[in-house]
Amino acid sequence: MDMLIALSALPARPAAPAGFRLRKPIGPEHDLVAAWVARCFSPAWASEARAALANRPASLFVATCGEPAELRGFCGYDATARGFVGPIGVQGDARGQGLGAALLLACLHDMRATGYGYAVAGAVGAPGFFRRVAGAIDIPGSTPGLYAGLLRAPPAAP
Ligand SMILES: CC(C)(COP(=O)(O)OP(=O)(O)OC[C@H]1O[C@@H](n2cnc3c(N)ncnc32)[C@H](O)[C@@H]1OP(=O)(O)O)[C@@H](O)C(=O)NCCC(=O)NCCS
Repeated sequence: MDMLIALSALPARPAAPAGFRLRKPIGPEHDLVAAWVARCFSPAWASEARAALANRPASLFVATCGEPAELRGFCGYDATARGFVGPIGVQGDARGQGLGAALLLACLHDMRATGYGYAVAGAVGAPGFFRRVAGAIDIPGSTPGLYAGLLRAPPAAP
């Protein structure tokens, strides 16, 4: 199910939770970000992260912590398709501290500033999170939507 988010009624962008920093990666970091997304989430999300990083300006935020900085979360938009927000992921041990909300709202405010009126969250796996953080509503009849006939990695050879 896809979900719709009105960008005219967003909550204010929160500060990053204590100990974390939100920002857009710069060029020399792109491969590391995509590799981390593939390792922690999936190759398909890494592909979308690369698409968002290739946009100009880049349309992906990461959350880092520590020194040297380590990745803990990411969220992109205009990655699956124009006007779509996501994918979003926060590493397991960093969840439940407001990082997902900060990343999602960073992207949504960026989309609003870019000129979008609405964002679509595609094939949502955590609908309660999108409802809670951004007031997302279900889009009836949206499955499979854009994802119909999606190419999938073939099973490994025996
Ligand atoms: C979904 C995800 C990004 C949330 O990240 P997080 O950092 O734990 O989220 P936050 O701490 O910012 O939570 C913000 C609010 O959403 C709520 N929330 C978080 N995950 C939720 C979920 N799966 N369902 C319902 N509500 C959720 C929190 O309770 C919190 O509510 P509060 O403001 O009342 O305290 C994270 O769990 C994740 O990476 N999951 C795996 C990947 C995934 O499913 N991505 C989404 C695919 S569409």
